[in-house]
Amino acid sequence: MQVTYRKVTLEVDDNLLIKELQSQIEQQFDIPATGQSFLANGKRIAFNPEARISDPVGGKRPTKIMVLGNPQKKSDEVASSANAYIHQEHRRERAQATLASRIRAPTVTTTPTEYTFHEIQALPYGDSQGAVDYLQRIKDDLGVRVLMEKYKLKVNVLSELDPALNTGSKERRLGLNHNRGEKIELRIRTDDYMGFCNFNEVKMVLCHELAHNTESNHDEAFWKVCRLYEKEVNIGWGQGRRLDS
Ligand code: NI
Repeated sequence: MQVTYRKVTLEVDDNLLIKELQSQIEQQFDIPATGQSFLANGKRIAFNPEARISDPVGGKRPTKIMVLGNPQKKSDEVASSANAYIHQEHRRERAQATLASRIRAPTVTTTPTEYTFHEIQALPYGDSQGAVDYLQRIKDDLGVRVLMEKYKLKVNVLSELDPALNTGSKERRLGLNHNRGEKIELRIRTDDYMGFCNFNEVKMVLCHELAHNTESNHDEAFWKVCRLYEKEVNIGWGQGRRLDS
């Protein structure tokens, strides 16, 4: 059955108990159990903690439950800041983790965006599928998504940089940005093509390359943007709680 709170929709098990739903909502959205109300079939569900969420309300089995309530933090404060998006995305990630065992098909609504990578290209040899998965993981990374949306960074192609072609005696290239976002190449494979580079280090290289979407030279303006992206790209992961306090 669907449980919705504002714009987030979750598909949860019909057998979930009211008290379980309450505690999940509390964890997920910071709404204390005492401040929650559930609506089904246009009626407020009476709180019987041991009842199932699918038990009839007004003689009818609910197909959808709406959650009402406000997070402990004033919602206008949260919504007004640019962090609202991160905040919300972070909750969705947690929702997936905490409800994982009870969720059949998590339907998390995400709006399609142009501020992302539109195509992924891997090298045609070695573990190509592994490389595609790696690049996809970068594209889907919460911090990367939030960063690209916030700063309106559009990249047509995210591609793998070939280590053999980019390792010289003096230079070891880690990334490249062609024509301000037409294509970004990242060195993701180890030099022996047997494995992949550290994900967080690659993300830092990506920040450098994304900064080249607007800044051509390695001047002061460039490094300012680069450092900003490096800082913000990690906000999505694990540090979201800080926004609450
Ligand atoms: Ni550069």
